[in-house]
Amino acid sequence: MNLKIAVLSGDGIGPEVILQAKKALYAVGVVYEHDFIFEDALIGAVAIDKTGSALPEQTLNLCLNTDAVLLGAIGDPKYDSESDTKNSPEQGLLKFRKELGLFANIRPLKPFKGLLDVSPLKREIVEGVDFVIFRELTAGIYFGEKKLNEEGTIASDLCEYTEDEITKITHLAFQSAQKRRKKLTLVDMANVLETSRLWRKVVKAISVQYPEVSLDFLFADNAAKQIISNPKQFDVVLTGNLFGDILSDEASVITGSIGVLASTSLGENNVLFEPIHGSYPHAKGRNIANPFGSILSAAMLLEHFGLFEEAKKVYEGVEKAIEFNVVTIDLNPDSKFGTNEVGEFVSNFILNKDDLMYFNNDNVHLGQSTIV
Ligand code: IPM
Ligand code: MN
Repeated sequence: MNLKIAVLSGDGIGPEVILQAKKALYAVGVVYEHDFIFEDALIGAVAIDKTGSALPEQTLNLCLNTDAVLLGAIGDPKYDSESDTKNSPEQGLLKFRKELGLFANIRPLKPFKGLLDVSPLKREIVEGVDFVIFRELTAGIYFGEKKLNEEGTIASDLCEYTEDEITKITHLAFQSAQKRRKKLTLVDMANVLETSRLWRKVVKAISVQYPEVSLDFLFADNAAKQIISNPKQFDVVLTGNLFGDILSDEASVITGSIGVLASTSLGENNVLFEPIHGSYPHAKGRNIANPFGSILSAAMLLEHFGLFEEAKKVYEGVEKAIEFNVVTIDLNPDSKFGTNEVGEFVSNFILNKDDLMYFNNDNVHLGQSTIV
């Protein structure tokens, strides 16, 4: 298969972790004879620094005309308190999602067996958890009109949803539930928010087309509690933009580290894959960031294009790395391995290498005695 992949490494740890995802894809290409053509482009703070815009035209055009996008992370503290909020890294990302029509962000949560005791939650709560969050990504309060009065004393953010926006993601969520354990939970605040009441109405109406899927509703505050106290009850969680953002970060605690979570963002004509973690500026350039989220995003990319065997191999590479304790310090504080060695291990696993010398990297012998 030939795939053109736009690579937007972005800010902070983005470039380091995305490099490991590229290595995994490169290894898959070699073993399974696929041609993955990577093209790099700028987004976020690094794009502002180099071009003046958080989302340069060139990046947008490239991504609109490619098979898939692989994104690292955006955000830099130096732009956090910028008065120019319209050209912040975050606004660049939101505009990007909108322009590509990436209306559904899909975040699976299934802890690795080898990490059950890394989670701060009790093993009996974590074991057997397997759910996926469908977060609406191009509407709601993130995109509504923002106002601040002249005195800077009154502010508002409009939360708006149309029936169409809800409908599109709802079908995807139901279709996913059909292939899974056939349960869909809509998370909202229908007790206080008009938009949530519209969500309920639309989702209920659509549910008749999926009679085998059971539908239930949970208020977001209760969902926040249940995701930590009884996460096994969930199969498909469907929710709006803001609740989805918050709940997926919270849910990452179940897996032991936000560093292991991957996501797919789907649009009608475009698709993007990215780890759910942020740019983690503090860790930038220190070879400590967990590359699993990025590598597993690459696995999601493979799956999306029907390359299931290949995706499984990448997933197994991560499992093996965990089994051999070739992990970054977020998963094992005593670990001697960094981003690069962990990524190296996974790509060499994909390449079926015993000697782990493939990339001829200075650090490779670290894994040598570990794998055999
Ligand atoms: C995410 C991030 C973004 C979001 C930020 C960086 C705007 O947290 O992708 O989850 O809130 O959507
Ligand atoms: Mn987030």
